[in-house]
This record gives sequence, C-alpha cells and structure tokens, in this order.
Amino acid sequence: MKKQWWHEKAAYQIYPKSFMDSNGDGIGDIGGIIQKLDYIQKLGIDILWISPMYQSPMVDNGYDISDYYAIDPIFGTMEDMDELIAEAKKRNICILMDLVVNHCSSEHPWFQEAMKHPDGRYGEYFYMKDGKDGNPPNNWRSYFGGSVWEKLPGYENKFYYHSFAKEQPDLNWENPEVREKIYQMICWWMEKGLGGFRIDAIMNIKKDLTWRDLPVDGADGMGAVHKTIERAEGIGEYLLEMKHRCFEPYDGFAIGEAMYLTEEEVKKYIGDDGYFSSIFAFEPCHAHRKGEMYGEYQWPMPFEEWRKETFGNQKILGENGFEANIVENHDQPRGASLFIPEEDYGFYSVTALAVLMICQRGLPFLYQGQEIGMVNRQWRLADFDDIETVNQYHFMIDSGCSKEDALAACSHHSRDNARTPMQWNDKKNAGFTNGTPWLLVNENYKELNVEKQEREYGSILNFYRRLIAFRKSEEYREILTYGTFQPLYEDTKSIFAYKRELEGQRLIVICNYSSQPAEIELMEDYENVVFVNYEQTTMIGRKLQMKPYEVIIYEK
Ligand code: GLC
Ligand code: CA
Repeated sequence: MKKQWWHEKAAYQIYPKSFMDSNGDGIGDIGGIIQKLDYIQKLGIDILWISPMYQSPMVDNGYDISDYYAIDPIFGTMEDMDELIAEAKKRNICILMDLVVNHCSSEHPWFQEAMKHPDGRYGEYFYMKDGKDGNPPNNWRSYFGGSVWEKLPGYENKFYYHSFAKEQPDLNWENPEVREKIYQMICWWMEKGLGGFRIDAIMNIKKDLTWRDLPVDGADGMGAVHKTIERAEGIGEYLLEMKHRCFEPYDGFAIGEAMYLTEEEVKKYIGDDGYFSSIFAFEPCHAHRKGEMYGEYQWPMPFEEWRKETFGNQKILGENGFEANIVENHDQPRGASLFIPEEDYGFYSVTALAVLMICQRGLPFLYQGQEIGMVNRQWRLADFDDIETVNQYHFMIDSGCSKEDALAACSHHSRDNARTPMQWNDKKNAGFTNGTPWLLVNENYKELNVEKQEREYGSILNFYRRLIAFRKSEEYREILTYGTFQPLYEDTKSIFAYKRELEGQRLIVICNYSSQPAEIELMEDYENVVFVNYEQTTMIGRKLQMKPYEVIIYEK
C-alpha cells in the first residue's frame, strides 16, 4: 500500500447546525466552529469534515443545495469560510467539505429551469420520465419513503426522479455537461485550500437505466431504491474521471459514502489507484439493521453480529485499502447508546468502545460529542425535526405498528439523536447558544458536558485525548496505522480482541465487552501493558481476570 499523507491522522465530523452558535440565533455557525478550533486541536484532530454549509432551503439540513458557490447565511459568509480554512490551517487541521452531487435542491436554478422546460437543456440535467397513465413509472421507494417519482407541476403524466426527498431531484450524471459543471465546482473549492471532500450518497449516481420494477418489500407495494445500486453498472468511469479532474491535482483526500462492497470492489474503490482515498466502515454500525423499517432494527446492537462484521470488514480490507472507522455520525443514533445497553452506560463501557474503534486498522473518524460520551435523548413525536424520522414513523404506522412502538423505534434510531446541540457546559442550553436552540438539547447536559470533563482527569474526554495521542505517538503510530489486523478469541462470548502486528512489533487489544466479569486464558505471556481503562489489571498465572468493560492493550 502506498503511504499517503492522511494515513496517520485522526478525523472528526462536525454537524454545523448543532456544534456552536456564535450569534445567538439558535443555529450553529462558522464563527462557532472557529471558536472551538483550539478544542479540536487539543483532542488531536488533523482532519475536520463539516456537513454541508452551502446555500440551502434546509429540507434535509443542507443536503439539498440550491447554490454550490454560496455559504448559507445561517452559517455565515464566504469570508467566514475562508477564515475558517485559514485558522484551521494554522493549527495543522485541514477541512473537508461535504460534496452532495447525487442530487441538488429543487430550488437550484437548474431544476427551476428544468421544470419550466422539461424537454429543454436543463431537463437533461435530471431524470424526467413519462408515467403509466398518471402513475409513477415504477415501484421504487425513495430513501425517505414514498415513490422516487414526483409529478412535474402542470403535467399529467411527466415525472422527475429523486432517490431521497422530493425536494432533492437527482442529477443526471450521464450528461457530460452536468459532470463538467460538478468538476468545475469541486476544483473551485479545492483552490480555496480545502483538504478534500466527504462525498455524499455517491453510490447512487449511476442508475439502473432499465428502470424495471423491484420486488415488493413493504406494505406500500414498493421496493427500496438502494436495491437498484447493484443493478447499475459503470459507476467507476465517472468516479475515476472525478478523481483525475478534481482530487489528484491537489493531492486531496476524498472519502466516499459507499458501503457493502465485495473484496474485488474494495480494491477498485480504495486500492492504490482507487476512486477514493477512503470510505467509511458502515457495515459494523449497521449490523443491527434487519429490514427497511426502524421497527426492524435491533436495539441495542447485537454484540456477535457487530464483532463479526468488524472482523469481516478488516479481513476484506487487508492490504487492499484504508477505511475510516466510526461508531456514529449524523445519520445514526449516538454510538454510546447503540453499542452499549442503557444500564451499562458509563466511563468503562464508553472507553472500551473507544479503544476498540481507534486501535483497528483504518482512519479513526470521530463524530462531535462522541469524545464526551453523548447519548440519545427521549423524544415526543412533535419534537422530531429529521425528515427521515418523520417518514419512518408514518411508514411504520402504515405497516400496522402501534403508535407506541413506532415512537419507541424512532426514539432509538432517529438521526436527531446525533443532532442535538453539542454540550459545552452546564449553563443555559448547554452553552451552545444564547438564543433558542433549533433542536432540543439533551436534558443530561448538566452532568454531561465538555467543561466538566475538562476538569476531571478521569473523564471520557481526557481518555479520548490520551487514546488519540497513543494512536499517534512516535512508538505506536506505525503499527496502529500499517500493522496487520488479526481477530482473537473469535468465538468467545463477549470478548472483543485482536492483534496488530508490524515488523516484529505486536499489540494485543483485549476487551471484556460485558457488564459481567470474565476470565480468559492468554495464549502467551504478555507482560507489557501499554494502555488500559482500569487502573489495575488482574492476572493469575496466564489467566486474566477481566472486570466489566475492561480493555487492555499489551505489547509483545
Ligand atoms: C447521505 C447523508 C444524509 C442525507 C442523504 C441525502 O446519506 O449522510 O444525511 O440525508 O445523504 O443527501
Ligand atoms: Ca448562529
């Protein structure tokens, strides 16, 4: 594997609406991010991905862009953005923006023109199709529920295509002019000095152009649109074109939202000559998803499936590429809630999860608030903001779920859990804003906040700082970055363990991921303990007596 500048780094995602508000309007903004750059630097972060801040009607919180060349006023100005890039650079942090080019907003001028003249030049920027006697052309269900087809206003039988919300019409990547416009835009941003982009929903850009029906998988008589991804061929051509035009010339870092790839595909996506620098390791985080509905997701994460998916992923990757490891992002519930049974939540379980994630092979990619152990909150239906959650609720009700069950499933799985304001201190609104926050703050902020954890040596925050410093230390950087990954105790209940190895150096990570003590027989004598979450480890002969959620790293 060719060495790259970003291999030894640590990354962090900001959801800007919820990070820090600098002007009291209740919405996080660029000024707020600038204020917190020192905090991010102190955590040991080198790469900062910020979810979209372009001009947007905010139907999907910025993932619906109406002008790719403008910053939305709720976040600030283009000058603020330039300042952010410069201030971050001073701290050796590079910024990744979010590239949302599978679709734009229905308010983008391209789509406005297309609606006026569907048969004209801008009609070709999108997918327009005739329906079947006024009904949609096929039975595909969009990611956010309902048909992927929406009738063009003023037409009886003409539809446009949207894989997400109807306000997010899909761009037609088959049209070279569209691709050209996109590449120009990316280069324009790269010229500003970005480190690169996180690339949204990118597997969807190539369509199954036969548009044939899907097998029905829900009470609505439709089939989930993600199932068409494997039918569509030839995406690589566009992704390589984009890489050569937009990222290679700048040595930019491009991380794609791509998942469920086979070993062969992994090479094509993130091998030395792959389409992207990296992709996220979603499979372990999605191991509890057993169907299309929130109601079919398990809660909490089933341990064995999670471990199996993690090992499976690491195996496929091997030397083939470098994924980014996550336990949460803005599209998931809080990792500390999903991966830890509620009654087990605490310092030891949260830090065990942190070690397991950060010491795997791959780029550690944190999400805002993870470093203090932020968790899900309680919800009433009226308090949800997220378009996906609201749609899932109705999807469940229409499928025969009770209101109570639908609300319970939404409370667990809603993306809003990750989007509640960052908890900075125990003052009003957790120190996030002087105004009224756009989304409810988690009630636990008095107990759980950055300021409090700054003061306590034994806090989750300070643990994360030490852990990231360990990962990036002179002594362990190479092995933790480039060392092989070998699962251990694969069939032992509740034990999550693996070995990293590089040129004779070995690290053994062993975790008792359970609220019960466990005894495990070590395979060799490991004397040298290099990282722990309990002060004392107990060994009797070769038998390790592990406390609940204890994690130990040995060096051999
Ligand atoms: C991606 C984003 C998600 C968004 C969707 C549509 O999955 O991460 O937040 O809703 O794409 O852009
Ligand atoms: Ca603001």
